[in-house]
Amino acid sequence: MRVDIRPFGQSPAGEPADLITLTNERGESVSLTNYGGHIVSVMVRDRRGNLGEVCLGQDSAEDYARRDIGYMGGTIGRYGNRISGAAFTLNGEEYALYANDGRNTLHGGQEGFNRKLWAYEVAGNSVIMRYTSPDMEEGFPGELSVEVRFTFSEDAALRIDYLARTDKETHVNLTNHAYFNLGDSPDILGHTLWVDADRVIEVDGELIPTGILMSVAGTPYDLRQPQPLGKVMQREDNAMFTAAKGFDIGYVLNGGGMRQIARLHDPDSGRVMTVSTDQPGVQCYSGQGFNCGGRAGHHYCAYAGIALETQQHPDTLHQPSFGTTLLRPGQEYKTSTIYAFTAK
Ligand code: BGC
Repeated sequence: MRVDIRPFGQSPAGEPADLITLTNERGESVSLTNYGGHIVSVMVRDRRGNLGEVCLGQDSAEDYARRDIGYMGGTIGRYGNRISGAAFTLNGEEYALYANDGRNTLHGGQEGFNRKLWAYEVAGNSVIMRYTSPDMEEGFPGELSVEVRFTFSEDAALRIDYLARTDKETHVNLTNHAYFNLGDSPDILGHTLWVDADRVIEVDGELIPTGILMSVAGTPYDLRQPQPLGKVMQREDNAMFTAAKGFDIGYVLNGGGMRQIARLHDPDSGRVMTVSTDQPGVQCYSGQGFNCGGRAGHHYCAYAGIALETQQHPDTLHQPSFGTTLLRPGQEYKTSTIYAFTAK
């Protein structure tokens, strides 16, 4: 594995950021920046052996600080997805958060982990990023020490291991917001997607869970057999697609432990991305909000890429039946996700 490091501009606070690239023997690579823990680029081979970009990205830390990029590639925390009412109660104390999505909090609040400069070190084929979130940052109690290890393998698998510890009880839900497009088309409408989930999270008009886990049977978001994304999104028998203008759906994954949960396939390039995780959920968001600039003068339009954000279900801290996102002092928050690339 070759490691290259180069300057990648500055954070809004003027801190210099780096771009770190891991390249395997086959010439495939993953690039990361310690500004926001972003996945900047993933270059993998197609069925003919051609190297190509499969991850939406930007050219500099300054671009990653923009607000119009839909959290592209960022490490999301302290709490991924939505928290209803931008507040929660813990041990009798009310904690007020920043409402950055209507009345609700999305992806960590005003200045989430995707907008922080992370310390980092390279260890073999891994980049280990560290960030300490102060007590009451964005309204969350407890100093949270976070470590995210990105590992790229000779067979083109990108593994992300998350570790967090706190000094006071708090809530944590970390994920990565990379958008993938496995081919040369400007959108992912020709891709097929399989997700191993019998149920999805029912949400209201603000994309807040109602508490009901709905069966996918008979709905257009039944992905238990691979489905072409453009075709299923055209189906009009679905209120959740209409409200969200595409996939913005939290899937309740079958099974437990580390397991393969999703497979994205681009028939043109032959590229396949499988997603494995130990998490209970994945938010599938088809990038319908995109209308922004990207790397090398690229313009990203609606559906330019799809995010498969492994996580605990949205608003778990208000939905005890979903599980728990509580982290106590002395405990370790630990979770892993693997995006593995092949072509056939
Ligand atoms: C959310 C979407 C949101 C998007 C912003 C996704 O993770 O589920 O509702 O619009 O992030 O980029």
